Amino acid sequence: MPVIEKLLPGSVACAEAFTDSPGAALFPQEAALVSRATDKRRREFTTGRECARLALGKLGVPPGPILTGERGAPQWPPGIVGSITHCAGYRAAAVARAGDVTAIGLDAEPNGPLPRGVLDVVSRAAERARLAALSGAEKGVCWDRVLFCAKESVYKAWFPLTGRWLGFEDADVTIEPDGTFTTRLLASAPSASPASFAGRWLASSGLVLTAIVVPAVRAATGQGTLADAAGAPGAGAGGKLEGFWSGADG
Ligand SMILES: CC(C)(COP(=O)(O)OP(=O)(O)OC[C@H]1O[C@@H](n2cnc3c(N)ncnc32)[C@H](O)[C@@H]1OP(=O)(O)O)[C@@H](O)C(=O)NCCC(=O)NCCS
Repeated sequence: MPVIEKLLPGSVACAEAFTDSPGAALFPQEAALVSRATDKRRREFTTGRECARLALGKLGVPPGPILTGERGAPQWPPGIVGSITHCAGYRAAAVARAGDVTAIGLDAEPNGPLPRGVLDVVSRAAERARLAALSGAEKGVCWDRVLFCAKESVYKAWFPLTGRWLGFEDADVTIEPDGTFTTRLLASAPSASPASFAGRWLASSGLVLTAIVVPAVRAATGQGTLADAAGAPGAGAGGKLEGFWSGADG
């Protein structure tokens, strides 16, 4: 079972890789996107696409090019949402049908402290205060890295939903030691977009992984608006969304 799967509900298909397979191939349109890139960039892009195609295959979507859209966001086939991440020694992708999920944000980082000075740039004062309180919570977890990773996954879920930039100061993330986090979104956004995101995090195999999955809300279920669902305290863990996370661990 892919490690990342522990963070995802059953409606989300995923694939991951810890090495780059020499046999992995790109469609010509994809290869053109990285034709001038470094070897490192070509390898992460290629394995990321390979993971994405494997995950799409689990949804029954046939292989096809996944091009890069506005501001770097992957362009998924119609009716599909997803997210890709890569860092040293790890690549992953997660996808779902748009009828089940509105947005996914995935991020992976090495589980090591952020370089000096970075935390001040990527966090708000209140987030730093909460990190300080977490420091004794679990040995071996670099909480500043978990925060950074969570914020990158916030952006990856936010951008496809809104088409807007989100700065590090525009989201307030609260990490819980139990493997969850919540994000208050502080930037102005289209009225239907969520006011908050619920996510999950995991430290495993030398990595920090974070995932945000914004569930789709079907009008016929009477469950309210997308903003209600994604913004509900504990969304994704119970309440109106009970059952949504049944595929995830814990
Ligand atoms: C885009 C960004 C989040 C990528 O994160 P990263 O840790 O550097 O890199 P990762 O390997 O994890 O992810 C890269 C993948 O993200 C995806 N991605 C890039 N831009 C994206 C966007 N605008 N929307 C959604 N996904 C995007 C792509 O699939 C990319 O891989 P690919 O180019 O091979 O397809 C980061 O570079 C960035 O610009 N951050 C600033 C914005 C931000 O994080 N704000 C914080 C809000 S709280």
